[in-house]
Amino acid sequence: MGRMDGKVALISGGARGMGASEARLFAREGAAVVIGDILDEDGEATAASIAADGGRCRYVHLDVTQEADWQAAVAQAVSQFGSLDVLVNNAGIGSNSFEIHEEPVEMWDRTIDVNLKGVFLGTRTAVPAMLEVGGGSIINISSQLGIVGVPYNGSAYQTSKGGVRIFTKAAALQYANRGIRVNSVHPGPIVTEMTRAGRDDPERLSIMLARIPMGRYGEAEEVANAVLYLASDESSFVTGSEVVVDGGWTAQ
Ligand SMILES: NC(=O)c1ccc[n+]([C@@H]2O[C@H](COP(=O)([O-])OP(=O)(O)OC[C@H]3O[C@@H](n4cnc5c(N)ncnc54)[C@H](O)[C@@H]3O)[C@@H](O)[C@H]2O)c1
Repeated sequence: MGRMDGKVALISGGARGMGASEARLFAREGAAVVIGDILDEDGEATAASIAADGGRCRYVHLDVTQEADWQAAVAQAVSQFGSLDVLVNNAGIGSNSFEIHEEPVEMWDRTIDVNLKGVFLGTRTAVPAMLEVGGGSIINISSQLGIVGVPYNGSAYQTSKGGVRIFTKAAALQYANRGIRVNSVHPGPIVTEMTRAGRDDPERLSIMLARIPMGRYGEAEEVANAVLYLASDESSFVTGSEVVVDGGWTAQ
């Protein structure tokens, strides 16, 4: 018996990093998984590797800023696997560190578009499919920086992640009595491509490690475990919550 038996999940940004980890774990627990991304080669390879391990997984091209891509991805999940029960809004981009008076407007717009509007569009498109099957679970990947600020990371990123946190609560309340649960997950620093440059720079690495009470970066699998709990029926009374997976960062 898998913890996700009978469920169909769509994971944005699932080609690599935490999204790929979630896809692998969900498939291992019995879900059928559609991963969407703009990195087509990586996405196809991830789906093929999950399938080679006996999982059910398909890749679709999905730019989360494009409503038509979302419609096609949801349609693909429903036509291929019969329903849509779980959406993980995981796709996201980092923004470079600028002080606000020098932060490029285009970078602000792009970051908000991908990290925040993408979550709105995904939710907006998935909800009707979930209502059709009597409910579902939506997990929005925010960040510890959606709860507390830091001076050395662009304001666009932190603002987008703070937006994801409160968007989650609005959505949770709107659909609470219609079977759709909506929760946010707040990873701290995790070992993925997104943090590679920071980890490779000894000065930045030591600033970060000094901020993490557990003294290390997290692994993608440690976040995927929390996402699995929220996606599965084990969290049936959990909605509008914010689950921190941050090695203690926000406890300070
Ligand atoms: N790594 C960390 O330390 C950390 C901490 C907190 C939150 N997060 C968040 O976790 C999520 C996953 O990040 P990750 O660390 O696995 O990084 P990652 O860069 O490895 O993965 C992000 C994925 O999102 C995809 N993506 C980017 N723009 C997209 C778009 N427009 N449409 C579809 N897909 C797109 C990328 O191609 C990539 O596959 C992000 O939302 C990120 O902000 C990461």
